Amino acid sequence: MTSAPLVPGPVTARVPAKVNLELLVGPLRPDGYHALSTVYQAVSLYDDVTVAEDEQWGVSVSGALAGGVPTGEDNLALRAARLAAERFDGTPVHVSIRKGIPVAGGMAGGSADAAATLVALDQLWNLGLDREELETAAAELGSDVPFLVAGGTAMGSGRGELLAPVLARGTYHWVLALAEGGLSTPAVYAECDRLRHGVPVPEPVATPALMAALRTGDPHELAPQLVNDLQDAAVSLRPDLGDVLSSGMEYGALGGVVSGSGPTVAFLVENNEAGIDLAVALTASGVVRDVRRASGPVHGAHVIHQRVD
Ligand code: C5P
Repeated sequence: MTSAPLVPGPVTARVPAKVNLELLVGPLRPDGYHALSTVYQAVSLYDDVTVAEDEQWGVSVSGALAGGVPTGEDNLALRAARLAAERFDGTPVHVSIRKGIPVAGGMAGGSADAAATLVALDQLWNLGLDREELETAAAELGSDVPFLVAGGTAMGSGRGELLAPVLARGTYHWVLALAEGGLSTPAVYAECDRLRHGVPVPEPVATPALMAALRTGDPHELAPQLVNDLQDAAVSLRPDLGDVLSSGMEYGALGGVVSGSGPTVAFLVENNEAGIDLAVALTASGVVRDVRRASGPVHGAHVIHQRVD
């Protein structure tokens, strides 16, 4: 009796979005990046990324938020797959992305897909990569990608890719106000430079008060510590975000901050019920296109399914 050769079945990895609890932007470096000190938190909005052996390289995107994701060679998940194949001797795969993370929203959706692709390929190709090997490959793909592999709450330095653990207690509840259209990350950094032109910019250093707040697990302590040096730039490019921020605070948020380079605004609320109330109020107000509720911290990219063929 002959049996068909075993083909590894498609592997699906789930990956969260991130918010930056603190994003301090230092001087522009000679390599075109800015020195950062940031504290990331992974939150429960997810993309699912499936990798499957195929005759040629390809990527497809589905889900209500799929619009605007590039499906060519500039797709970051496809770039992640090609990089992994080069480095670990892999063969072509098709990458299917199911989007639940807003696109170009400042929540690292593209970086998340790259992180999930690496984690899924690790399993598909049986590579047995350790965390350090995964994070090194991730850093080549983007500043946020290592964090999306790691998840939880972590401090990022360098250009955001050098991670250190942060002790965070409790679960935090977020309402995310999604905006019409996206913002280009390089454009927001460039606007930040323009607004600060002529002003001396110190090397960024994480704020001890934020770390202390995270150790309490109390959202009332964390709320006043939320800060984003890119916020003025994002609001300068999208003045409507100023109204979103003030509406959220008026409707009961404990704190609010533009997420990463925006335009998503992250509001911290006391608990799940407060999140429902704020989501309803923001939707009814008409100042936001759409809202999502999420909580964090959650795990980074992880395999949820492998089909056995
Ligand atoms: O690392 P990533 O590819 O996600 O960065 C996208 C762009 O954001 C960079 O090309 C750069 O313009 C800007 N950026 C920056 N400083 C950082 C991270 C990103 O200027 N630390």
